Amino acid sequence: MDDKINENNDVNNDLNDDVNPKHLKVDTELDKSLRPRRISDFIGQKKIVENLLVFIKSAGKRKEPLDHVILSGPPGLGKTCLAEIIANELGVGFRITSGPAIERAGDIAAILTNLEKFDVLFIDEIHRLNRSVEEILYPAMEDYKLDIIIGKGPSAKSIRIDIEPFTIIGATTRIGLVAPPLRDRFGVNIRLDYYDKESIVEIILRSARILGIEITRKGAEVIAGRSRGTPRIANRLLRRVRDYALMYSDSVINEDIAEKALERLDIDRLGLDVVDKKILNTVVVKFNGGPVGVGTIAASIGEEVDTVEDVYEPYLLQLGFLKRTSKGRVATDRAFRYMGIDKEDNPKLFSNTPENES
Ligand SMILES: Nc1ncnc2c1ncn2[C@@H]1O[C@H](COP(=O)(O)OP(=O)(O)OP(=O)(O)O)[C@@H](O)[C@H]1O
Ligand SMILES: [Mg+2]
Repeated sequence: MDDKINENNDVNNDLNDDVNPKHLKVDTELDKSLRPRRISDFIGQKKIVENLLVFIKSAGKRKEPLDHVILSGPPGLGKTCLAEIIANELGVGFRITSGPAIERAGDIAAILTNLEKFDVLFIDEIHRLNRSVEEILYPAMEDYKLDIIIGKGPSAKSIRIDIEPFTIIGATTRIGLVAPPLRDRFGVNIRLDYYDKESIVEIILRSARILGIEITRKGAEVIAGRSRGTPRIANRLLRRVRDYALMYSDSVINEDIAEKALERLDIDRLGLDVVDKKILNTVVVKFNGGPVGVGTIAASIGEEVDTVEDVYEPYLLQLGFLKRTSKGRVATDRAFRYMGIDKEDNPKLFSNTPENES
């Protein structure tokens, strides 16, 4: 019995950490096992998938490399997955690097000269490439040429060498931070948006099959409703709810078990957690609906500006709770209603946040 209680505490601690949207950028081993490898396993985002299939087939017919692709969108929506799937569908090699990992021009030159014909080079966090590396990439992307400088000072010479035709797939959560000359060199620009609920339900059912978790469709729907339209969160919530189900029921996840487990995780019906509520509290209550700068919001809730901008804000914008204006973030009427506050009352304090919009 004691064991059970302790286990349960561990579950709760783990759980809060694991499903915390802030930790969304870290993939666990289990996340990797759920990763779709072929386009037929990639659920949702139908239009994007259809377009990609056309580009992939066309490149194959032309016997040319696929045009360079840039994938953008909030964390956990499948950018890395999609990049790997594209390489698999093209039947070419997949090389992975990231903006911050390529420090010097020499690093990128080494990577480019080692590519094989038509390989996909995946550059994650491409908005964090430094300028000198970008300069090397331009001729490489356009003409498959590499400009190398040999020697130093007045005797330095620039030579141009050929590299194999290849495809860069860049991924970023911050397309606005990608230098325009770099962005313009991508022929295919794909923006991933939050998934609709039906797709998230399918993703949960697929993951449950892979992990051997028994779940009813209704149970999956409850989890999907609180997954912020994000596959990575859906997968994590599924595993946490599974832990709860194993502990307290016959282990099949149904509607009731899912509701109870998610309540214990402090995730409300919209998928908002404690930090989201702090953000809304700051804008709605402390600043009377705004406008308020993102730096002020971040400072006021003790988070990094990047985390607020990358992880929390996009979903609040999507829900129509916040709006971006030139003067800062503004809370909408929906946000006021969600917080249970009458806009006219202009209250200074409140302690309870209702679970749902009225
Ligand atoms: N369309 C999908 N169908 C099924 N599972 C998916 C889909 N998209 C993403 N996933 C799941 O979500 C997880 C996260 O996806 P991925 O790592 O590709 O996100 P990302 O956009 O690269 O995130 P980040 O910005 O943090 O790098 C994957 O491991 C996979 O299990
Ligand atoms: Mg990724």
